[in-house]
Amino acid sequence: MLPVDVHIHTNTSCNLNCKHCYENNGNLPPASINEELEIALIRYLSTNFDADIHLEGGEIFLEEEKISVLNRLDKSALRRITITTNGTYRTQKDDVLCVLRNIAALRISVEGHTGLLHNMLRDGDLQTVLNNAVYYRQNDIKVALRITLNSQNMSGMFSNTIVALEATGVTQFDIYEIQPVGSGKTSKLCIDGLLDVFFNDWIAAPLNAAVKVALPLRRLKEIGVYKQALTHAGVNIKEVGKCANVSISADGAVRICPWDMVSEPLMFVNLKNIEALKEVINAQHMPHECAYCSRIVMRGGLKC
Ligand SMILES: C[S@@+](CC[C@H](N)C(=O)[O-])C[C@H]1O[C@@H](n2cnc3c(N)ncnc32)[C@H](O)[C@@H]1O
Ligand code: SF4
Repeated sequence: MLPVDVHIHTNTSCNLNCKHCYENNGNLPPASINEELEIALIRYLSTNFDADIHLEGGEIFLEEEKISVLNRLDKSALRRITITTNGTYRTQKDDVLCVLRNIAALRISVEGHTGLLHNMLRDGDLQTVLNNAVYYRQNDIKVALRITLNSQNMSGMFSNTIVALEATGVTQFDIYEIQPVGSGKTSKLCIDGLLDVFFNDWIAAPLNAAVKVALPLRRLKEIGVYKQALTHAGVNIKEVGKCANVSISADGAVRICPWDMVSEPLMFVNLKNIEALKEVINAQHMPHECAYCSRIVMRGGLKC
């Protein structure tokens, strides 16, 4: 089956106003995916494709029914789903917890190990988010912490940040470089120069946790300089991105690039025309070319 990377934006509402948000701080026109459509999309994509499915809001926990409805899916479809959240909500609802226990991962966004670093990008109290990560982990949910690599948190990422965040008991960390998209364009947190400090810290700091670092293609040349030392430190480096993408907004707009919330949609999907997604996906014979998408995935850490 054809691999496809799927992003479904369930709702535009959000309780935060992050400085880097490619969704323009949750300020897109209000929209919320119809739950029948959400289920039908996931069923269709997971039975016809080798789909890796990401559910993102805005903030999905503001509309918990977008999670609880997933109880209608079978376990093989649930295992394809990753939900990303800002971690500010702690649900007590059994039907939501039941879904979360059966998905691939609940990815909670944090931007560093100190309130100062976290608040460079996001409002709110870091400790509350970390306490919620512990709560979900203790409820048998696979939790990963997602960090947006930016000019303020790139030094000491491995020797300080990840070591400190491991106190939550989380063993999976996903690091994505900040991209100049949406509010990210004006945030002044993008990394204009090289990632020397970041790579040198990774080489020097042996880790217990599994770390995935996703970078755009423009980082390929400088990775070449560190390749030998990183490989020696146990880091596996892979070029990715040959698979098809499809990004579906809360209003049903279908686009290719996961970072793109604004271009003219290829189509609007609804309950009656889901099959047309096949054409959108099959038309991607060439990898989607983009300055923002992750094209290099590096994995390290003793548990990787
Ligand atoms: C758009 S948010 C939606 C989910 C949820 N509200 C959250 O913040 O985790 C999904 C992820 O994209 C990240 N993100 C947003 N804008 C970004 C940008 N310009 N560059 C890189 N990552 C970004 C966020 O930090 C978050 O981890
Ligand atoms: S990054 Fe997430 S939490 Fe922050 S404004 Fe965007 S959607 Fe909301």
